[in-house]
Amino acid sequence: MALILGIESSCDETAAAVIDSNGTTLTERIVAQRIASQDDAHRPYGGVVPEIAARAHVEVLGPMVGAVLADAGLALDDMDAIAATAGPGLIGGVMVGLVTGKALAMAAGKPLIAVNHLEGHALSPRLADASLHYPYLLLLVSGGHCQILEVAGVGQYRRLATTIDDALGEAFDKTAKILGLGYPGGPAVERLAREGNAKAVSLPRPLVGSGEPHFSFAGLKSAVMRAKDAGIHLDADIAASFQQAALDCVVDRTRIALGAASEGMTALVVAGGVAANAALRGALEALAAQHGLPLVAPPPKLCTDNAAMIGWAGAERFALGYVDGLDVAARPRWPLDANAAPVRGAGVKG
Ligand SMILES: Nc1ncnc2c1ncn2[C@@H]1O[C@H](COP(=O)(O)OP(=O)(O)OP(=O)(O)O)[C@@H](O)[C@H]1O
Ligand SMILES: [Mg+2]
Repeated sequence: MALILGIESSCDETAAAVIDSNGTTLTERIVAQRIASQDDAHRPYGGVVPEIAARAHVEVLGPMVGAVLADAGLALDDMDAIAATAGPGLIGGVMVGLVTGKALAMAAGKPLIAVNHLEGHALSPRLADASLHYPYLLLLVSGGHCQILEVAGVGQYRRLATTIDDALGEAFDKTAKILGLGYPGGPAVERLAREGNAKAVSLPRPLVGSGEPHFSFAGLKSAVMRAKDAGIHLDADIAASFQQAALDCVVDRTRIALGAASEGMTALVVAGGVAANAALRGALEALAAQHGLPLVAPPPKLCTDNAAMIGWAGAERFALGYVDGLDVAARPRWPLDANAAPVRGAGVKG
């Protein structure tokens, strides 16, 4: 049994959690968790301002760790290890969480586990569903990433696809901005799309039909902008048409990846912030069923950034004896599959 304190600060959520890896259900495993969103601080700018984010983490994280331990009825000394996000992300915020983790580990004489934030997302479905076993095919769709990976075990990732420009969450956020829906945009676009006609606006499906399962959303975003500028469509119709086009791309790309994946995948898994989108889950469920696989997705609250997934990734690492020294570096970029070949195209993300 291991009790792990998880810390997350790589973007605009400050979060801390206590994880009990001995539990079998989600409620047993997440002993306590807290999340402070900085949405209000960033809203006037229409996106995350790194400097504001880092300063907010400094103010919030220390007291939050004390509060989450109190919620759990436990002391720092009861923890078996401290797991903190060490990247990738906005480097100022990452440093706040990692240095806090180091200080706590040093003060309490506990091992430190430097967690890759993307591994937190990648393993989060296993936190929520104890029956999910390796290997599985993972669609990781968040604010900064859009990838398809084979997950063979902790630290064992093979990237089959990535985006050549924008991430899927970024496309939702930009569409929200174009439609004046504010920040964060994904949930707002999903809500508005429910009221619109997905066939009303003709939008492109970039890369659909291409043999490699990579993604591209920049052209779709430009088309959304032109549709808005035309001034003849309802915003709800634009939102619905955008969401449908984006999902068509994701389903087509994932179908190609399912064909290219190694034998023996136990499930199609979706994680990351956009995995909270109900329409996406529905579309992927149908695709997985066609391939005789279950679709596994964490509960929506575990899809967006949180510290429970960081604590859980830490617990999986701790169980294998993977701990880090206090000299471990914060990393703005940290791909899950360091061997993945670069993809031709501008602005490739990890
Ligand atoms: N219901 C939804 N529908 C569509 N997109 C959503 C939904 N909920 C959240 N998102 C999107 O998910 C993203 C946030 O996810 P997450 O917190 O995992 O990203 P991040 O941490 O900023 O990026 P990364 O994990 O790549 O570093 C945002 O782009 C947001 O708009
Ligand atoms: Mg994230």
